[in-house]
Amino acid sequence: MQRADAILGLGLESSCDETAASVVRNGREILSNVIYSQIGLHREYWGVVPEIASRAHLEKINRLVDTALGEAGVGFKDLDYVAATSRPGLVGSLLIASQSAKAISFSCGIPYIAVNHLEAHLYAPFLEGWNPEYPYIGLLVSGGNTVLYRVDGVGALTVLGRTVDDAVGEAFDKVAKFLELGYPGGPIIEKLARTAAHRNILFPKILPDSGEYRFSYSGIKTAVITYMKEYPAADHAEVVYAFQERALELLVRRAFQALREHGATAIVVAGGVAANGRLREMMEESRRNGETVILPSPVLCTDNAAMVAGIGYPYFMRGNRDPLSAEVSARV
Ligand code: KG4
Repeated sequence: MQRADAILGLGLESSCDETAASVVRNGREILSNVIYSQIGLHREYWGVVPEIASRAHLEKINRLVDTALGEAGVGFKDLDYVAATSRPGLVGSLLIASQSAKAISFSCGIPYIAVNHLEAHLYAPFLEGWNPEYPYIGLLVSGGNTVLYRVDGVGALTVLGRTVDDAVGEAFDKVAKFLELGYPGGPIIEKLARTAAHRNILFPKILPDSGEYRFSYSGIKTAVITYMKEYPAADHAEVVYAFQERALELLVRRAFQALREHGATAIVVAGGVAANGRLREMMEESRRNGETVILPSPVLCTDNAAMVAGIGYPYFMRGNRDPLSAEVSARV
């Protein structure tokens, strides 16, 4: 039985290649968090195929909703709101969670809340007991995004900088693809880099003198390719070690630059690349007294619906409601 004062939100996520459903209590407590990863369906194509993704979301979503409600021990009638990612993402994929949420909203007579996926990622720490003080710095690092935010409150995100070309996770994936290591590249590269016998930094620093909050990842990817053409017998572990050090160094440098220039005390790192253990180590090494680095646990770093249900809560409490005619969008 749910307490009468509890607010229960159902969150749905289908923006890329994870289908997910979750029930969260009072925007803080995860009662269930079920995720179906489509990675196995896309692996042979070395990337996400939009048509395959949307079809698989459609096939899975109803069962995931039932499982999420069942694991939470609640029914549709107990829900106070339903939230779904509506932007950014693959449009065909986004439609599955948002249409499902709208159908639930309509039939249960509860509010529908359309969620910005990137803001949801930055909400993940609130589901693990963190309460970062505003303003905090948000570093969102995934396969599709590399963005640095100043966060002044719910819905109050200012973009300080973003990548001018590839996203950092995309660079991990492309380097792994070039070296034929497998897909997705991030976890494979992290594991292989740990085995490098010689730890030489073979590539120059990315954007060394820039005072701006820009990121760029196509140059380092090209540097790896050029190096491998010049030294075809080079040890892959040593090459990916050097790549990873440079790729992550830029993230760490920019995040602390923003923290100190904006007088903030906390950095929240989110998105698939935040699962990287070496990034966690480097952030910790750069941290000074009084500065907090918040990295959600790996299951909340990659795409999930708990963060969607979670960020839906403050919007619900503020009285925000989205119409059932609200559209999905590939961009924020
Ligand atoms: O946030 P996410 O699950 O999904 C989207 O981007 O939609 O992030 C996936 C990305 C992929 O590019 C993957 O290679 C990267 O995150 N990634 C990692 C690690 N785990 C996942 N990158 C570096 N190290 C990791 N351990």
